[in-house]
Amino acid sequence: MSGTVAEAFALAEKAGAAIKSAFDGKHHLLVVLGSGWADSLSMLESASTTPSRSLPVHEIPGFAKPTALGHGGQLVSITIGATRVLLLTGRTHLYEGRGVHAVVHGVRSAHMAGCTSVVLTNGAGCLQPRWKVGSAVLIRDHINLTGHSPLTGDNPPAPFAGRFVDLTDAYSRELREVAKRVAPDIEEAVYLGLHGPHFETPSEIRAAASWGADMVGMSTVLEVIAARHLAMNVLALSLATNQAAGLGSEPLSGEEVIAVGKEAAPRAGALLRDVLVALDRAEVV
Ligand code: HPA
Repeated sequence: MSGTVAEAFALAEKAGAAIKSAFDGKHHLLVVLGSGWADSLSMLESASTTPSRSLPVHEIPGFAKPTALGHGGQLVSITIGATRVLLLTGRTHLYEGRGVHAVVHGVRSAHMAGCTSVVLTNGAGCLQPRWKVGSAVLIRDHINLTGHSPLTGDNPPAPFAGRFVDLTDAYSRELREVAKRVAPDIEEAVYLGLHGPHFETPSEIRAAASWGADMVGMSTVLEVIAARHLAMNVLALSLATNQAAGLGSEPLSGEEVIAVGKEAAPRAGALLRDVLVALDRAEVV
């Protein structure tokens, strides 16, 4: 999906209208299930108080089936308490080559479909020697080294805000506090977002550590920028799928990321379910 900012917003508006029409009205919260989180779907569906309904993403304007390993291609509608939730089972990454607007299309379309908050999940390499592979952490801030912004180009069309978006407190303190009530011992991380699809060199990881990064991955940061531009509240969770390059004894592979995700799925799914229930009860989404 290339094209201008205005075209990207027009397509997201079309997609938002299609989502509202397919699922009978507005939703409140988008949850993006990234690498290692796809298996949370069944646990979230079981927590729904309405029958879950699903739409293949390729039927929604501007979406394409993800090509990344372990990423599904469904948009699923569930209800947690009073909160209508859209679950996107997989995302588009910059490295898939569809352009930056395709990467953030899910977030923008969900906004157009009524969502005022987003929970982003990902699998990531871990730079902290004391944090365990297979554990989940909250993201408290990011470093965007993708070399891209979803706001490059002309100012977004009216009525959307201008392109100079404040990213101070991009990861909502309020939502993190609610998540910490469910998981008091959860670590908080700075996530470094890179273009990929190659993994990093050990020297890049040493540089990242010296800049204050705790986790490294190939997603999330552009979606956060797009979400903040639309004034959406953001919560983000990383699953540590491997020690970052040069820190562990095993070579890095996409298959390892998926395998650790599968192994961690019951814990990650339960955490995500409990966080969604807490967000609904706290009435913050
Ligand atoms: N680096 C970048 N992206 C990743 C990693 C990593 O080590 N693990 C999972 N996604």
